[in-house]
Amino acid sequence: MKRPKILIVDDQQINRLLLRKLLKEYTIIEASNGEAALRLAIAKKPDLIILDIIMPKPDGYSVLSTLKSNPATWLIPVILVSTLQGLDEKIKSLENGADDFISKPFNPLELKARVKSLLRIKKLQEELVMVQHIVVSLATAMEAKDDYSANHSLRTSYYAGKLAKRLMLSDSEQKHIRVAGFLHDLGKIGIKDRILCKPAALSEDEFEVIKSHPLIGEKICSSISAFAPILPIIRHHHERFDGKGYPDGLKGTAIPLGARIMAIADAYDALTTDRSYRKAYSKSTAWEILHRNEGPQWDPELVKIFCQMLKEEDFLIHHDFASPTLLLLAEG
Ligand SMILES: [Fe+2]
Ligand SMILES: [Fe+2]
Repeated sequence: MKRPKILIVDDQQINRLLLRKLLKEYTIIEASNGEAALRLAIAKKPDLIILDIIMPKPDGYSVLSTLKSNPATWLIPVILVSTLQGLDEKIKSLENGADDFISKPFNPLELKARVKSLLRIKKLQEELVMVQHIVVSLATAMEAKDDYSANHSLRTSYYAGKLAKRLMLSDSEQKHIRVAGFLHDLGKIGIKDRILCKPAALSEDEFEVIKSHPLIGEKICSSISAFAPILPIIRHHHERFDGKGYPDGLKGTAIPLGARIMAIADAYDALTTDRSYRKAYSKSTAWEILHRNEGPQWDPELVKIFCQMLKEEDFLIHHDFASPTLLLLAEG
């Protein structure tokens, strides 16, 4: 097994030597100032950083905040080290995103135990990220089977995220809605291709099969705890405001807000992309169709806000915009 790599950041060589000695079972890299630390954190991808607070500029706090705001480094656990013993110092460190805090002089056993525990958490977190990547890859692979649905989830996530932002939902609600946008149709993976990709109209029986996809998607995602907040959005994205949707026939505001948002984003994308049986509608035709069907199908208040947004904003989708895994992890 690969030896975990630890970056020690301290301007005092004697302190770096001491830590190196204490942690000799690990691969150690060293930085004597904040700038070098930030460079090495990106270049060497350490599994843990032990960071002294008091250093010439940038000090430990500003190195910490740069590390925790950069997606390339925000997952690396950081132990802040200080000679200051006060509780204030400790609280400030943890509030700034430190994963642990330790005072000098070290108790060697305590330091080793904390290092070990953070490395274990980091490993579990990496495994969780991998599982989330696999699920997202499945969703992407499923869409790629059909020319008409390619990138549908990416666009739905984008539109739903814009609407959630317009509604001034909290950062974490916005993130959940964007992640749910990526995964809302994941359950289609459990539907046979001959039905899913059928170029003609579906029979009643076939449509019944299609209707199972929100439940299949919910089931797949329910095994991953990070996806818990998005399960109701996946399950209910085909409910209708008049109660005639599926799977539960929920009506009006009994439908979770995220699912009402998703239903509009989902429909807008379907309207503005080519289908096997028609060409994509223009933005203004899609606007009219959404307006005509508000109330029976979609939440009228949300349709109004969405349509206002269509009038005022250009939609620019970057296909590399943040992956759902990163969005979830950004929550801290
Ligand atoms: Fe769907
Ligand atoms: Fe969809």
